[in-house]
Amino acid sequence: MNNVHVEVKQLSKIYRSPGEDIKVFSGVDWTASGEKTVAIIGESGVGKSTFLHVLGQLTPPTEGSVCLNGSDLTVLDDNERAQVLKNDIAFVFQFFQLFNDLTLRENIYIAARMNYSEKEAMERTDSVIDDLGLSHRKDHIASLLSGGEKQRTAIGRALVKDPALLLADEPTGNLDERHSEEIMDLLLTLQKKRNCAFVMVTHNRAMAECCDEIYRLEHRRLHPLEEA
Ligand SMILES: Nc1ncnc2c1ncn2[C@@H]1O[C@H](COP(=O)(O)OP(=O)(O)OP(=O)(O)O)[C@@H](O)[C@H]1O
Ligand SMILES: [Mg+2]
Repeated sequence: MNNVHVEVKQLSKIYRSPGEDIKVFSGVDWTASGEKTVAIIGESGVGKSTFLHVLGQLTPPTEGSVCLNGSDLTVLDDNERAQVLKNDIAFVFQFFQLFNDLTLRENIYIAARMNYSEKEAMERTDSVIDDLGLSHRKDHIASLLSGGEKQRTAIGRALVKDPALLLADEPTGNLDERHSEEIMDLLLTLQKKRNCAFVMVTHNRAMAECCDEIYRLEHRRLHPLEEA
């Protein structure tokens, strides 16, 4: 069990462009306790990725705050925000975002080395590769891995630093049904083992149901599923 706490208050995001402003969501109040895994569903284009990116500090909100364990991340300067991203928040994306010319092991090691000494980064890398069940593939070039293996590698890269908060954007969106189930199992098993909070966005209802709580993003707000 972890005691990670995420809270957003009066969160709004507007993309401003010359032709029109796109108001993605507004006035969102929402909390997540790290003890419960969370899925956010919603139709394509409704703003799921945008919400996750605002939560994970990849893009600033237009208004409102994002608090991680009581500390307001939206008031941090760029250096402080970079530290939070380096230490506390990790992402898994639909299209993996690996370094294609590097090996599986190098992809994970680079992430580990950002936070740990050479020796510790090596040890953590090998331990996470073991958890992923990919020791036999560790020296493969990333571009030659299967889709499922690529996503496992991306999960390892995210978890090797033991983040407080793991965010996943359509982590199974590029995989067939069988591999999607395997990836969800792995994500949830390792999230528990590594004791981090987990928030995922997806439009796949079956995958969402693997999580403890489901919210729907609709009409610019987040609704618990039964009220959506
Ligand atoms: N950087 C950007 N600049 C301007 N508009 C953007 C930007 N990113 C997203 N949008 C717009 O914001 C809205 C929400 O996009 P977002 O990608 O968050 O939706 P989504 O729910 O993740 O969709 P999908 O399920 O297709 O991934 C869309 O109308 C999109 O066109
Ligand atoms: Mg998206």
